[in-house]
Amino acid sequence: MRTFRDHMESSLYDPERGFYPTRTQTADFYTAPELHPASGAVLSDKIAALLTRVRGARPGVGLSLVEAGCGDGTLACQVARGLREKHPALADGLRFVLVERTRKDLTVAVRKLTAFGLPVDACTGVDRLPRFTGLLYSNELIDAFPAHLLQKKDDGVLEVYVDESGLETLGGLSRPELAAEAAAAASTLAEGERHGVSLEARAWLREAAAHLESGFLLTVDYGKRFAPGAPNPPRAYRRHQIVPALSSEPGTKDLTVPADFESLIAEGARAGLSLESYQSLSTFLIEGGIDAWLSAAAGDAAALYRERARIKTLVHPEGMGETFKVLLQRKSL
Ligand SMILES: C[S@@+](CC[C@H](N)C(=O)[O-])C[C@H]1O[C@@H](n2cnc3c(N)ncnc32)[C@H](O)[C@@H]1O
Repeated sequence: MRTFRDHMESSLYDPERGFYPTRTQTADFYTAPELHPASGAVLSDKIAALLTRVRGARPGVGLSLVEAGCGDGTLACQVARGLREKHPALADGLRFVLVERTRKDLTVAVRKLTAFGLPVDACTGVDRLPRFTGLLYSNELIDAFPAHLLQKKDDGVLEVYVDESGLETLGGLSRPELAAEAAAAASTLAEGERHGVSLEARAWLREAAAHLESGFLLTVDYGKRFAPGAPNPPRAYRRHQIVPALSSEPGTKDLTVPADFESLIAEGARAGLSLESYQSLSTFLIEGGIDAWLSAAAGDAAALYRERARIKTLVHPEGMGETFKVLLQRKSL
């Protein structure tokens, strides 16, 4: 018997059978950059504006651009293309660092990004980064962190455990750090409701903040600012559908727990990160000029429809537009 957190860890990252090491890109879900390059292009412009601010505040200091959880480098290449084409002066002298725990993807990402002629470094975790000045961004990383799972039962809140055959049972809290969450969840959850707690997301943020000398941390993810102990159940995706059985057949489906932006903002404040902005993906993309991509779409009627539908999915409230958020935090500027 192991905690749901440990089950999620091996289900997603076991080197032989885990979902990510064996994933076929886009077979089970699309991330925003996999859906359409427009989101990467808008992000690239935003990154250029933010790095220009860092350069203004820290003249003469070499700047790094870090993507954490870069997967196979799809987004990194969109960002690099945007910087090369629209912000060449900034791109020159910029060091790109890719961080990815799935080694097979990291190798592919480095190979793809090298084609853009920027110096590229790579590592498997933010704890391995040198201290840097610049910007660290991530897309759909936080919701892929293994999380503890709490469930309301009778008057109390217990933790979910999973046995060898994928059967779930409830037991006591495995970690003292879960006690405060459990106490809050006791008064907010209804019987049987669940609350995922990503201690890893908080530890990751502390680590990322410690390595950032000065600059920005930009996080794009599925989630919201949850009230303490509010329902926040994990989801399992297979072939673009939500599947009801969470814990059976490990490695065959993507498990995610929505990012808790409230705890990222609070943890960030403790780690020296000031809140610069928090907005929906839709607002972020519209402010960044995604409309231009809609009018630039070309091709025959079918291709045009497909192209526009994909861009609209990025901004539409029932697509990714309101369910995804963009958090920008600032350090020492
Ligand atoms: C949902 S994918 C997103 C990939 C890419 N950012 C995109 O938008 O297409 C999440 C990625 O984060 C990676 N990952 C998970 N935990 C990580 C960690 N602690 N450090 C670095 N990468 C991690 C996974 O291996 C996976 O490639």
